[in-house]
Amino acid sequence: MGRTAPRMTLLYLLAGIFLTLAALWILIPALYGLPSVPTRHDRLRAALRLADLKAGEAFFDLGCGDGRTLVIAAREFGAFATGVEIGPVQCLVSVGNAIRNGVRSKVRVTRGNFYRADVRAADVVFVYATTRELSRLQTHLESQLRNGARVVTVGSNFPDWEPVKVDRENLIFLYVMPPYRRTVEPADGLK
Ligand SMILES: C[S@@+](CC[C@H](N)C(=O)[O-])C[C@H]1O[C@@H](n2cnc3c(N)ncnc32)[C@H](O)[C@@H]1O
Repeated sequence: MGRTAPRMTLLYLLAGIFLTLAALWILIPALYGLPSVPTRHDRLRAALRLADLKAGEAFFDLGCGDGRTLVIAAREFGAFATGVEIGPVQCLVSVGNAIRNGVRSKVRVTRGNFYRADVRAADVVFVYATTRELSRLQTHLESQLRNGARVVTVGSNFPDWEPVKVDRENLIFLYVMPPYRRTVEPADGLK
């Protein structure tokens, strides 16, 4: 009996910490309208191959989640990977993942809002988001990225940009800056 009470207290404390972290993991991204849904590893690799990510290049993941993209970019492609992430728990998990995979020196994680992120140094930017976030990101990326920088998206495409390559099987879109503008098809009566 004497030992059970401290054990139960510790158990409640650990459960409380776990539930708080789990709630933060879900609630903070939800406040920004984009949940923390990870990309499959094979789809990530396909995206980085489509972007032709090379060793030594600067790679950014806007909304890096658990940091899996950063680890693959650094470990398998030799890139210097930066994650911009709004969720504090996701940031901690990303750093932990980089340490666990031996690529901490090539991975940087910044807690912040990707609509205001400084991505001027990027060679390749990766985004897994919906068209709503991408349409808001367009102007920011156009104002920041140098000519020749690549942007790769999974799941959705930029509404006003024309991709230079599309992987239809994995729904991956590649853009090169400055982006081609999507041309609006004239209505039948105006042709
Ligand atoms: C769909 S998940 C993608 C995670 C990771 N990039 C992947 O592909 O596995 C989107 C991530 O973006 C983060 N996020 C949502 N809105 C954000 C914002 N405004 N600024 C920075 N990160 C944001 C979420 O917390 C979440 O981790």
